[in-house]
Amino acid sequence: MTPNPTDRRESFMTDAKKLFIKTYGCQMNVYDSERMAEALGASGYTVTDTPDQADMILLNTCHIREKAAEKVYSELGRLKPLKSANPDLKIGVAGCVAQAEGEEIMRRAPLVDLVVGPQTYHRLPAMERAVRAGERAVDTEFPEEDKFEHLPKGPRARRAPAAFLTVQEGCDKFCAFCVVPYTRGAEVSRPVDRVLREARDLVERGVCEITLLGQNVNAYHGAGDGGAWSLARLIREMARIDGLERIRFTTSHPNDMDDDLIAAHGDEPKLMPYLHLPVQSGSDRILKAMNRKHSAAQYLRVIERLRAARPDLLLSGDFIVGFPGETEQDFEDTMALVREVRYGQAYSFKYSARPGTPAAERADVPDDVASDRLRRLQALLTEQQRDLQAEMVGREVSVLFEKPGRLPGQMVGKSDYLHAVHVADPRAQVGQIARVRIVESAANSLRGEIAA
Ligand code: 5AD
Ligand code: SF4
Repeated sequence: MTPNPTDRRESFMTDAKKLFIKTYGCQMNVYDSERMAEALGASGYTVTDTPDQADMILLNTCHIREKAAEKVYSELGRLKPLKSANPDLKIGVAGCVAQAEGEEIMRRAPLVDLVVGPQTYHRLPAMERAVRAGERAVDTEFPEEDKFEHLPKGPRARRAPAAFLTVQEGCDKFCAFCVVPYTRGAEVSRPVDRVLREARDLVERGVCEITLLGQNVNAYHGAGDGGAWSLARLIREMARIDGLERIRFTTSHPNDMDDDLIAAHGDEPKLMPYLHLPVQSGSDRILKAMNRKHSAAQYLRVIERLRAARPDLLLSGDFIVGFPGETEQDFEDTMALVREVRYGQAYSFKYSARPGTPAAERADVPDDVASDRLRRLQALLTEQQRDLQAEMVGREVSVLFEKPGRLPGQMVGKSDYLHAVHVADPRAQVGQIARVRIVESAANSLRGEIAA
């Protein structure tokens, strides 16, 4: 038998340094935090969930909406006593705020030792050595090399049954409100063979559900056999991996929902019936001002085709209210679109001006007007979510059990439609997929019983 590499790790675990990572924002940051932990694992760090025991604290930040930088500075303020108590503690800022204002952070926050952007965290081990030697390190480049290829292979420990896998990063769409094209850079797809290798590795480590991640994931065009592969082709190839039972992907742009990807929702059983497809607004005038490059009718047509392929598809979306120039009529158009689609889940935000984006130059809708619209939209979205959840009662769904619930004897898992489902049954084991009959709908979860 080949020696288990995790055994070798034990030998230096005794004097391991402790790493605490606080993650803000999207799933891509969750994935990045895991990879940063792996990169620093090679430098002798193990992850801790208590900051006061850490030798290094990393804040993995998000810049998408308001006051992101302010939140980082106040969090850094809260870390000051820890740093005074332990002068050897190193503090780093990672992620999109680091990318956007790395030098500024170094200037304003002397307790920060290290600033690393989302494209350079494979260089963390070298930065860590510099920091231990008493330097301060900043790296917010967009390097030529591929960070994923320079990361150490993680310890081959078992993984939780559901995992994220980043396949695409950055965005070339330049929606007028959005900082992503500036913080994450131009759109880059990882090559097919590397994605498949990582997927197989995850499955060998106990993963049976993979969510493919990208800011614009359905624009995926990774180099593969015979040229660039579409996301649909990648999904179809991944579906052939034995032991991988469920595939999801997020986040998508309506204009990149191609025929094959729509068809895959109908004919690829491992592709789950849940889709996050942001529209932002239901008004053509605002969509144009947002530079979304599609109309409300075009979005609705995509939804119609998806539902023809997979009638039970559960949709989720993102909405922005109070975009500069939004009138009451524009907002009513958004409400009408929401009524037409019926979302099972949704994220809605008040517009916030992001410095450097085109919309930041335009006059804002008064804050009280925007707040009122957000309240009305959220009331409608909550009602839809509740109704669609209630419709699940009496139905049978498949549930992947992920962890024990709060009550004794209870397990929590995800339905194929991504609902959280609670089941109290000794037969429910982590990592197992079971047929579950839904018996009750609560505020944000369902309760079910294992079907005979
Ligand atoms: N203001 C408000 N919401 C925003 N989003 C992105 N940028 C902004 C902004 N400047 C929202 C969009 C996007 C989601 C990730 O965040 O709805 O889809
Ligand atoms: Fe931002 Fe638009 Fe790109 Fe999405 S598609 S990341 S909202 S610029």
